[in-house]
Amino acid sequence: MRKKIVAGNWKMNLDYAEGISLFSEIVNMVKDEKKGNQLAVICAPYIHLNSLAKLGGDVVGIGAENCHEKESGAYTGEISAKMIKSVGCGYVIVGHSERRQYFGETDQLLAQKTVAVLQNDLTPIFCIGETLDERNDGSYFEVLKSQLENGIFGLSTQDFSKVVIAYEPVWAIGTGLTASSEQAQEVHAFIRKEISAKYDAAIADNTTILYGGSCNPKNAAELFAQNDIDGGLIGGASLKSRDFVDIVKTFN
Ligand code: G3H
Repeated sequence: MRKKIVAGNWKMNLDYAEGISLFSEIVNMVKDEKKGNQLAVICAPYIHLNSLAKLGGDVVGIGAENCHEKESGAYTGEISAKMIKSVGCGYVIVGHSERRQYFGETDQLLAQKTVAVLQNDLTPIFCIGETLDERNDGSYFEVLKSQLENGIFGLSTQDFSKVVIAYEPVWAIGTGLTASSEQAQEVHAFIRKEISAKYDAAIADNTTILYGGSCNPKNAAELFAQNDIDGGLIGGASLKSRDFVDIVKTFN
């Protein structure tokens, strides 16, 4: 049975003390909720990772929001997957639309980052998603297919089976405009079909595919009830312990 994951993405929010305080609340609230194939994860700015992993890494998985594609070297200001692994993280978000949009990250670069993440025994949460124009002009399936093909379909079967995918329609991120459960399910089923065609049906069936984009405690249950939606990547609502934990509890 594939893993169900609710992953928070704090983005560029919370100073050190605020991060510790929010994470401590989350750990306390979810520690009795942990079930077999269900996981809560918090992806946070680099400054928090070491402390969060020590505070509750066995209750709530910890991830970075990005990494550099190289292992080390003269890349001032960058952080490698190896460094992220060394502080006890288990996950790295790769290819969030904000990285693609504001930092010019291409599918080719993201393919390299994914390899770096996997080589360090971390789980990539690989994000794909279409813009509003691409949704409206009907090209979104093509766009998503190309993000998959150029980003992660070059991986071996063994490596691909460790990847978590997050479908985040750009028009739904931080806008309050959630994709309807039908719209999200349609895309998740499409992604699973593409994985099946590229790899095989068993790999497709085992791949965790998260939905992200204005997911909140009110809409999570309906989204997560869809056949091909295995949880969420949560932005704004992960900054409030009650909201985030209510979304985690949606699985129960
Ligand atoms: O990574 C999370 C997504 O960008 C969703 O953000 O829940 O604030 O819309 P949001």
